[in-house]
Amino acid sequence: MVSVIVVVFAVVCLFIPTVRTSEVCTALFLYSTDLWKLECQPTVGIAAQTTDIRCSIRCPIKCSGHIELVGVALTKVKQEKPVFEHIINETPSGDPRFSLVNPVKDPSLQLSDTVFSDEGEYEYYVATNMGEKTARISISVIAMYRDPVTSSWPENVIDGGPVDLYCNATDGYPAGTIHWFDHSGTNWTMNSIMTKAIKDTNGSKSVALSSKLPFKSIHSSLAPFRCVVFNSKFVKEGEKTFQIMLKQESEKVPLGSKTTNIVAGLMVTGSLIAGLLLALLICRRRGDQRYH
Ligand SMILES: *[C@@H]1O[C@H](CO)[C@@H](O)[C@H](O)[C@H]1NC(C)=O
Ligand SMILES: *[C@@H]1O[C@H](CO)[C@@H](O)[C@H](O)[C@H]1NC(C)=O
Repeated sequence: MVSVIVVVFAVVCLFIPTVRTSEVCTALFLYSTDLWKLECQPTVGIAAQTTDIRCSIRCPIKCSGHIELVGVALTKVKQEKPVFEHIINETPSGDPRFSLVNPVKDPSLQLSDTVFSDEGEYEYYVATNMGEKTARISISVIAMYRDPVTSSWPENVIDGGPVDLYCNATDGYPAGTIHWFDHSGTNWTMNSIMTKAIKDTNGSKSVALSSKLPFKSIHSSLAPFRCVVFNSKFVKEGEKTFQIMLKQESEKVPLGSKTTNIVAGLMVTGSLIAGLLLALLICRRRGDQRYH
């Protein structure tokens, strides 16, 4: 049925081309064949920030100039009442954090002060002068990690001694990960131990990441170390380079200097004995000569 109408319109439009009819034909063509589509991209919002919900009207032939919005409604799946409704030229109703970016041509939405409860599946209804369409939108919400904080235990490290290095990042969501590198860029992540503490207070979700890099015997030449924080999508969100604090020289056990002292002592004693023996030998000789 639809295709018959299309053919009729196509024939009429192609063979009776007057200025007036061409516009009418395009409009009728678009309307009758359902040629336009409403497309919305999956949306990832950042908690406390403004989220862009990108939607567009697509059609294979030039139609953008002809299609105008009449009204939109956004409803969470399995809910009755729309969370946002806007009939063009009237005051929008529902959650005031939602708004149309460009109320005449563009069905894209903006959501300010995004919160975790905005997560979910939505039905987006768009009515235009050329018919209506509904699209699905999925919204997920993430939170950015704070800059990582680093520490070592013990705080003052002995070169060649044991130490645990820590890199902590908090207040992100969902769980991300932490990677470790030394001064030459060698990847130490395999040796590290990650702990993730998940918190959910009043619908505000967050994860505290803590990564421990333990050494039985550390070489100060590996420092400075670098830890890198990645979010759940493996996008780098922060990094920190940090030096280990070596124990003061005076506090160190002076192992090296002790041995040199001993060696020097032995040498002095040795040469003294040698000198004494030589002296004895000379005295002996003189005694012998006198005797003869
Ligand atoms: C990092 O987390 C670990 C384990 O929770 C903790 O022992 C360490 O003190 C933390 N370091 C900092 C600088 O917060
Ligand atoms: C570092 O090692 C980790 C764990 O083996 C790995 O997932 C990561 O891709 C490595 N990173 C680089 C930059 O090689």
